[in-house]
Amino acid sequence: MKGSVKSISLIPISFCFLFLFRDEFVVPARHSCHPEQREAILELKNDGNVPSSLGNLSKLTTLDLSNNDFNGEIPSSLENISNLTILNLSRNRLLGKIPPSLGKLSNLTTLHLSQNKLIGKIPSSLGNLSHLTHLTLGANRLVGEILSSLENLSHLTFLSICENDLSGEIPSSFGNFSRLTFLDISANGFVGEIPPSFGRLKHLTTLSAEDNNLSGNFPVTLLNLTKLFVLSLDDNQFTGMLPPNISSLSNLEFFYIRGNAFIGTLPSSLFTIPSLTYVDLVDNQLNGTLDFGNVSLLSSKIIDLRLGNNNFMGSIPRSISKLVNLFALDLSHLNTQGSVFGLSILWNLKSLTDLDISYLNTTTAIDLNALLSRFKWLNNLNLTGNHVTVEDRSADAESPLSFQSSYEPNTTCGD
Ligand SMILES: *[C@@H]1O[C@H](CO)[C@@H](O)[C@H](O)[C@H]1NC(C)=O
Ligand SMILES: *[C@@H]1O[C@H](CO)[C@@H](O)[C@H](O)[C@H]1NC(C)=O
Ligand SMILES: *[C@@H]1O[C@H](CO)[C@@H](O)[C@H](O)[C@H]1NC(C)=O
Ligand SMILES: *[C@@H]1O[C@H](CO)[C@@H](O)[C@H](O)[C@H]1NC(C)=O
Ligand SMILES: *[C@@H]1O[C@H](CO)[C@@H](O)[C@H](O)[C@H]1NC(C)=O
Ligand SMILES: *[C@@H]1O[C@H](CO)[C@@H](O)[C@H](O)[C@H]1NC(C)=O
Ligand SMILES: *[C@@H]1O[C@H](CO)[C@@H](O)[C@H](O)[C@H]1NC(C)=O
Ligand SMILES: *[C@@H]1O[C@H](CO)[C@@H](O)[C@H](O)[C@H]1NC(C)=O
Ligand SMILES: *[C@@H]1O[C@H](CO)[C@@H](O)[C@H](O)[C@H]1NC(C)=O
Ligand SMILES: *[C@@H]1O[C@H](CO)[C@@H](O)[C@H](O)[C@H]1NC(C)=O
Ligand SMILES: *[C@@H]1O[C@H](CO)[C@@H](O)[C@H](O)[C@H]1NC(C)=O
Ligand SMILES: *[C@@H]1O[C@H](CO)[C@@H](O)[C@H](O)[C@H]1NC(C)=O
Repeated sequence: MKGSVKSISLIPISFCFLFLFRDEFVVPARHSCHPEQREAILELKNDGNVPSSLGNLSKLTTLDLSNNDFNGEIPSSLENISNLTILNLSRNRLLGKIPPSLGKLSNLTTLHLSQNKLIGKIPSSLGNLSHLTHLTLGANRLVGEILSSLENLSHLTFLSICENDLSGEIPSSFGNFSRLTFLDISANGFVGEIPPSFGRLKHLTTLSAEDNNLSGNFPVTLLNLTKLFVLSLDDNQFTGMLPPNISSLSNLEFFYIRGNAFIGTLPSSLFTIPSLTYVDLVDNQLNGTLDFGNVSLLSSKIIDLRLGNNNFMGSIPRSISKLVNLFALDLSHLNTQGSVFGLSILWNLKSLTDLDISYLNTTTAIDLNALLSRFKWLNNLNLTGNHVTVEDRSADAESPLSFQSSYEPNTTCGD
């Protein structure tokens, strides 16, 4: 994540603007700084620490030191920059705890501390930052439970606390964040259910909760969130059936529930969501026959459809040929119960690059030549556990390629 560092930071100060580059910096000659401001700025060059003298820049309203190599602790003197509205320290190597004194910066609207090495708990004093709209603490080493002290941050629109070691239940007070559009709590150790209060987050467009130990049935309260376009619950311990009226999520684009213990049939209404593009249901215990429902409503926007390693039975629905934009298709472990598997059902899917049809339990032999000549763009093909025929060993018909990596939505932790 911390890849290439092309860092340019800008610190707007009332009269004194400067551009801080990694190895050089320029204070435009036309602008004059107060002596103590100049001193504080000069100190930025010295070592890797965020100088505590920055606390003297009392007129600052924006401080953005993101995407640099600052290390050491966040100086508590920042509490003295009382008019600060934006503090961005993300993408550095800051150590130690989040100073509770940041809770005194009561004008803060934006606090970015993501992608550092911060430890300890989220200080309860942050709950006093009642004007906060953006809070990102992702990709640090924060621990402990989320305290209800954050309950009054009712202006939050963007909250990201992913990739930490946070634990305990998700507080029901999250339902108070009624303006929230983006919530990323992924890759922590959260347990318990998604609280029913989430149904009040009417403006939510992204909910990333993957990689936790969340449990319980599919959180039906989420069906109220009609603006949701990313829903990721991958790799948790959810169980029970998927709700038949899942199509209430009428703007859904990413539906990720891989690696849970969902059972029962796949509600065909899912495929009537017109915006649906990425679907990953792999590694659950869904069963029954595959049914894409009303063919005329079947969303042909889908480009990534992963249904593998469930307990589905029977044949592949003919309507799959309508999904002409598919790039990736995983039907592995579909138990065709020995029925005839006619590859030709897939011939329309000309854009396929990833195809996993391993373990179809079919007696039909799969004709590799036909397959390779049809799917010109194929990168990854998995035919494990089937009968495969290769009639004529041409240069094209080399050993099957690998199949991996599901598509991730653009929610880089902490940004
Ligand atoms: C603020 O500036 C004064 C004088 O420039 C300096 O003595 C003092 O140490 C600074 N305060 C902090 C917290 O660095
Ligand atoms: C903070 O902003 C207010 C209103 O703009 C201004 O009156 C005050 O002097 C500022 N405080 C500092 C320390 O600059
Ligand atoms: C803060 O820094 C992050 C990481 O460099 C960047 O993505 C983000 O746009 C910055 N936000 C603001 C408000 O400057
Ligand atoms: C804040 O400013 C006051 C007055 O200049 C100073 O006494 C205090 O030490 C500063 N706080 C921190 C944490 O530097
Ligand atoms: C917050 O900003 C306002 C002006 O926008 C200013 O009057 C006020 O003093 C600031 N609050 C603090 C705690 O500095
Ligand atoms: C929040 O602010 C109030 C009043 O300004 C103060 O009494 C309280 O200690 C602060 N809470 C925290 C957790 O810092
Ligand atoms: C949140 O606000 C309510 C009402 O103002 C207040 O009673 C409560 O103590 C606040 N909670 C926290 C944790 O500050
Ligand atoms: C959905 O929202 C309505 C009010 O807008 C509320 O009555 C209902 O309980 C909510 N449903 C869920 C499942 O949260
Ligand atoms: C699907 O699984 C459920 C529970 O796991 C079971 O009750 C049901 O009979 C199964 N249905 C089919 C068609 O196998
Ligand atoms: C494969 O299908 C046959 C029916 O032809 C069935 O008896 C068998 O149990 C199936 N194998 C698996 C592993 O489900
Ligand atoms: C191919 O599919 C089988 C069965 O689903 C799986 O075990 C194997 O890991 C897959 N191969 C690759 C390279 O992904
Ligand atoms: C991801 O972000 C890149 C660059 O910001 C953009 O070009 C791309 O379309 C985005 N992909 C998705 C699926 O949103």
